Amino acid sequence: MAHFTLEINHQQHTVDADPEMPLLWALRDLLNLTGTKYGCGIGLCGACTVHIDGAATRSCQTAVATLAGKQIITIEGLGSNGLHRVQEAWIAEQVPQCGYCQPGQIMSAAALLSENPRPNDSDINDAMAGNLCRCATYFRIRNAIHRAAE
Ligand code: FES
Repeated sequence: MAHFTLEINHQQHTVDADPEMPLLWALRDLLNLTGTKYGCGIGLCGACTVHIDGAATRSCQTAVATLAGKQIITIEGLGSNGLHRVQEAWIAEQVPQCGYCQPGQIMSAAALLSENPRPNDSDINDAMAGNLCRCATYFRIRNAIHRAAE
């Protein structure tokens, strides 16, 4: 066990954890930030996506020991003052079905739009390819990203 200070959603949090502990479990089990979801644990599904220094990142594949000085944003902190425009677009397009993968989808979509404010369908498909949805809400996800880009 070691002591780590993590900057999450613009606040400093201190955790005692094994250095190899994935950020996903620090968020969920130590800090009660349960919006970030566990899907596969091996970097394949995207349910655990957060932003690290602005980039969409798999929290299940990111050890807490690698995060000193990095800015971590989770779904709980995405909208700095209310809902983020991607979340508003998700509501307007009624994207979720079961909802489980949607925090990760939204985090990937927000990272895409901060890099590419007007993505086309191909850009969206490429950026979102690593986020799986068992309910196959992909068409609505694409519409919501276009809406958020307007
Ligand atoms: Fe991290 Fe699936 S839980 S990619």
